[in-house]
Amino acid sequence: VENALAAGPLAGKRILVTSGPTHEPIDPVRYIANRSSGAQGTAIARAMSGMGADVVFVTGPADVAPPEGVQVIKVQSAREMLSAVQGALPADAAIFAAAVADWRVKSESGSKIKKVAGALPTLEFEENPDILATVSKLKTGRPGLVVGFAAETDDVIDHATAKRERKGCDWIVANDVSPETGIMGGSENAVTLISAEGAETWPRMGKQDVANRLAHKVAEALG
Ligand code: CTP
Ligand code: CA
Repeated sequence: VENALAAGPLAGKRILVTSGPTHEPIDPVRYIANRSSGAQGTAIARAMSGMGADVVFVTGPADVAPPEGVQVIKVQSAREMLSAVQGALPADAAIFAAAVADWRVKSESGSKIKKVAGALPTLEFEENPDILATVSKLKTGRPGLVVGFAAETDDVIDHATAKRERKGCDWIVANDVSPETGIMGGSENAVTLISAEGAETWPRMGKQDVANRLAHKVAEALG
């Protein structure tokens, strides 16, 4: 879909945003997931769209509704998210705000696992694809700007800097999600933007303000 208001600093740019958690099924009634409301990813998609971009929004089962005026692709699992992302490329920029589950249950049960007193189930896991790393390392069709997130509880900048290099993305938006910050599930965020040029710490502000500021940075980078 073309952005109806095709004006603004991101007019004519196609931007992919992932958001929300993924759900990895155990059986028809149970799943494993990361904690994520989808608020920050949704705010980013809204900001980009408001600046004129054509936004493709790939979202797991989030608490908040997707923004108006963007193309929404709803997924459940990490593998579904990867194929939705691959199907949505090419893009001028891609922002990976989703909290993707690192592991999935190896053999999902087709029927409900029954509770048996005294007998605990054993779950075997396997690794999910790393969507951000996969896109960052594309030889052809890599978006010009790839941005990842790093939600950490300790050594935030060190972990996030290493993550940027390991995954091969251009920028990492790092934040401290220790319970005492109240950021998880809250309306504010406090982030540090890490690029090859270094780290830039922004003051704590509303998630929509973080999104707007990031969208301006992206517009600047895309020229
Ligand atoms: N990500 C992804 N696919 C995955 C895991 C993560 O696309 N399977 C993306 C996230 O959307 C985020 C970034 O990678 O932009 C960092 O995610 P994070 O969970 O912090 O990194 P991991 O490499 O999984 O490291 P860890 O969970 O051990 O901190
Ligand atoms: Ca992870």
